Amino acid sequence: MMTESEMNAKLAATRRFLVERLSELPELGIILGSGLGSLADQVEKPTVIPYREIPDFPLSTVEGHAGRLVFGQLQGKRVMVMQGRFHFYEGYEMWEVTYPVRVMQVLGVGGLIVTNAAGGVNRNFRPGDLVIIKDHLNLLGVNPLRGANLASLGPRFPDVSEAYDPDWRQKALQVALEMGLSLNEGVYCAFSGPSYETPAEIHYARTIGADMVGMSTAPEVLVANHGGMRVLGISCITNMAAGILPQKLSHVEVMETAERLEKQFVRFVTGVVRAL
Ligand code: HPA
Repeated sequence: MMTESEMNAKLAATRRFLVERLSELPELGIILGSGLGSLADQVEKPTVIPYREIPDFPLSTVEGHAGRLVFGQLQGKRVMVMQGRFHFYEGYEMWEVTYPVRVMQVLGVGGLIVTNAAGGVNRNFRPGDLVIIKDHLNLLGVNPLRGANLASLGPRFPDVSEAYDPDWRQKALQVALEMGLSLNEGVYCAFSGPSYETPAEIHYARTIGADMVGMSTAPEVLVANHGGMRVLGISCITNMAAGILPQKLSHVEVMETAERLEKQFVRFVTGVVRAL
């Protein structure tokens, strides 16, 4: 487990490296989920930095993740986009999974848009739907804030009763309305993966209040809340969760739906960034 001073030293090194390469510091962070990376192409005057070049940054391993930071302007906002995230199932420690959010925080980012591919648990959802996350269930079995509190970065016992900013959710729903896009809100349930869930687990998730399931997001959102950032979460329903339809789940299906959805996703998120 890392001490507070070790973590602060890492963050200082990463920050120093990035600040040297940037003409301006970001105000808004965006984490792009599996198959949703093309939003980064919309960033104007981009500074692109592969993760492998950044001191103390983890490396992404999974297919469909580019593994780079894109800094620049999007709809007049200074953004820091993560193309590819770190998943708990890849074997990373929680501090690694959430390290980029800490980097955002020490660069002065005050708000985070976090996106993911998710399985639909709510039977009213359909593959291809976009859903605003209104809350989450963290079933990863571990909280990323466990261990020495990084007191310079946030409180020991952070409140997470509004982990997904109500005002930003409202704004996102408004943008969808103006675009003629039907948009639901739902509770995201994080399982650790990498196996998809069993039908019994999906039944359980629905029983405890989940609308969609995935293998990410909850850690980053907890750390962002600890750091005082506002958060907006968007799930792309890429498939119905296990046991809902008489069919098996596959990563290929997930990626294909994400790709099919991507144009609409990019349009929507771009509109949301403009509105925030
Ligand atoms: N379960 C977990 N993670 C996912 C799913 C799913 O059904 N679809 C996309 N990511």
